[in-house]
Amino acid sequence: MPSGLRHDVEIAVLGGGVIGLVCAWRARQLGHSVLVLERDRLGCGASGVAAGMLAPVSEAEFGPAAQAVLEMNLRSAEMWPSFAAELRQESGVDVQLHRSGTLMLARDSDEARALERQSELRDSLGLQTRRLRGSQARELESALAPRVRLALEAPEDHSVDPRAVVGALASACEHAGVRVLEGAGEAAVAIGGEAVSGLRLPDGSFVHADTVVLAAGAWSGAVSGLSDIGLPEVRPVKGQILRLRDPSGPGLITRVLRYEGGYIVPRGDGRYVLGATVEEQGFDEHPTAGGVYELLKEAWELVPGIAELAIEEIGVSFRPGTPDNVPLIGPAGPAGLIWATGHYRNGILLAPLTAELVCGSLTGAVAA
Ligand code: GLY
Repeated sequence: MPSGLRHDVEIAVLGGGVIGLVCAWRARQLGHSVLVLERDRLGCGASGVAAGMLAPVSEAEFGPAAQAVLEMNLRSAEMWPSFAAELRQESGVDVQLHRSGTLMLARDSDEARALERQSELRDSLGLQTRRLRGSQARELESALAPRVRLALEAPEDHSVDPRAVVGALASACEHAGVRVLEGAGEAAVAIGGEAVSGLRLPDGSFVHADTVVLAAGAWSGAVSGLSDIGLPEVRPVKGQILRLRDPSGPGLITRVLRYEGGYIVPRGDGRYVLGATVEEQGFDEHPTAGGVYELLKEAWELVPGIAELAIEEIGVSFRPGTPDNVPLIGPAGPAGLIWATGHYRNGILLAPLTAELVCGSLTGAVAA
């Protein structure tokens, strides 16, 4: 896009991660003209670092806000199989939906008591889990250490590869005719009177749009142009992860493992994502020795065999957290502004549902 010019589009999507791309694709399928503006590269934020757990049951927490998140997570998890199939058909990319199930693990009596409470919570919510003794868990995953005391199996909690999802969505968007601008820098939302009028780019270009979808992840709370209108805050919650590879191939772990202090997500091809720290450190993008140490220590105590794996990458990104960690999806603030952010720990899981909800808002916001 040449600098200093004016462009007209019905819908401008700010943010080229999984959420921005899926909203753009679905909006284009409704017949709208759509432009995605990404400050850097597609998927360079949380989407490129996320482990990709589709885990409504193991992510379930206590409290009313968590109940709202659970309902969204369950709805979106149900959408994933057909969403993955549609993405494959449109893009040719297999997003590696790995229907492995998840084991939640306890190492000692304190953790076992906490896991019992988690089991009761899930029973009370009608969520399907299976309680396993340590020996039964080791029959399923022989690499587990003898110290595993108790496990809770969530057979319907699966995973995808978020980098493949970004690739698939980018390709689907291109085929559908979504325009994408990478390297756009920090765009500002322009507001004229009571409504958004578009996005102003650092190079002086102006994108006129009837609707702006704010899908900038953890950066959504810092977008220029919105600071004066009292919108809900979105904060960055730092996560460090390790990408590991087993030189001898797949099989060390076949299910997603979750435990106090982290998780291991097998990709099914000998690669593993070991996550994640949860840090309120603002936008500090440095991996730390302490963070990596904790990730490895917690995982090694449960799966000693991870000591043999090669480290391929240390990643850092930022979950978009809201005050109650419930996502912000739908219209808020000036007319024409639609939020698609605040997904906290569940951005990949919530992608298909978010697009459906945003498109529901568009039907009222944009003349089709
Ligand atoms: N969804 C896992 C995490 O945020 O670390």
